Amino acid sequence: MFYETGKRDRTLLPHDPFKAIVTPRPIGWISTRSLDGRINLAPYSFFNAFGGAPPIVGFASEGFKDSAAFAAESGEFVANLASFDLMRPMSETSAPLPRGTNEFDHAGLTMAPSHLVKAPRVAEAHANLECKVCQVIQLTNHRGEPIDNHLVIGEVVAFHIDDAFIREGRFDTAAAQPLARCGYQDYAVVESLITLARPRGGGDLQA
Ligand SMILES: Cc1cc2nc3c(=O)[nH]c(=O)nc-3n(C[C@H](O)[C@H](O)[C@H](O)COP(=O)(O)O)c2cc1C
Repeated sequence: MFYETGKRDRTLLPHDPFKAIVTPRPIGWISTRSLDGRINLAPYSFFNAFGGAPPIVGFASEGFKDSAAFAAESGEFVANLASFDLMRPMSETSAPLPRGTNEFDHAGLTMAPSHLVKAPRVAEAHANLECKVCQVIQLTNHRGEPIDNHLVIGEVVAFHIDDAFIREGRFDTAAAQPLARCGYQDYAVVESLITLARPRGGGDLQA
């Protein structure tokens, strides 16, 4: 099958397969605090890490949603780790609630204070990354025309890790069971790892 974007045969492929192909995507569960003190929490699967030293993460908001707006105005956000045990409350925090509704309360989650940013973190999450905003970039299409997609990039300035998931000096990813977004209504869970050293012995713990 081949098709140009926008010319998909909707009889053969009723749903856009894009997000089922670019998968699994880590979920940045983003908590923010507006300058006037409103708290927000929502999942973003257009999320990833872009660098390790310093650690850089980013999430993309399709439409300038509350998370992007609050992060942009405050210059801060927390990326909380979404894991299998928190799948349902994570999903609840994506509900289209009125602006200013605290999704922690809506989903029955606990706010824990952060150390270097004002946004609270999800106490139940196995790891939280406190971030300071570096850039907010409105993306363009290939013609250079602005699109309604806003990439918020932040530097991770502090880490919280649940000690229960630190084993022999490493974060035990498989035990934490991070949740990833696939296409449609599907998710994946990381439950097992495959270890492969890089060629020529280059940096066994590097990307
Ligand atoms: C697992 C998951 C991933 C999502 N990823 C994104 C995303 O990457 N970008 C986006 O704009 N919306 C995404 N959404 C939808 C937002 O979470 C939803 O619109 C939410 O209400 C936004 O909240 P906010 O306005 O409080 O930021 C996702 C929803 C779910 C359940």
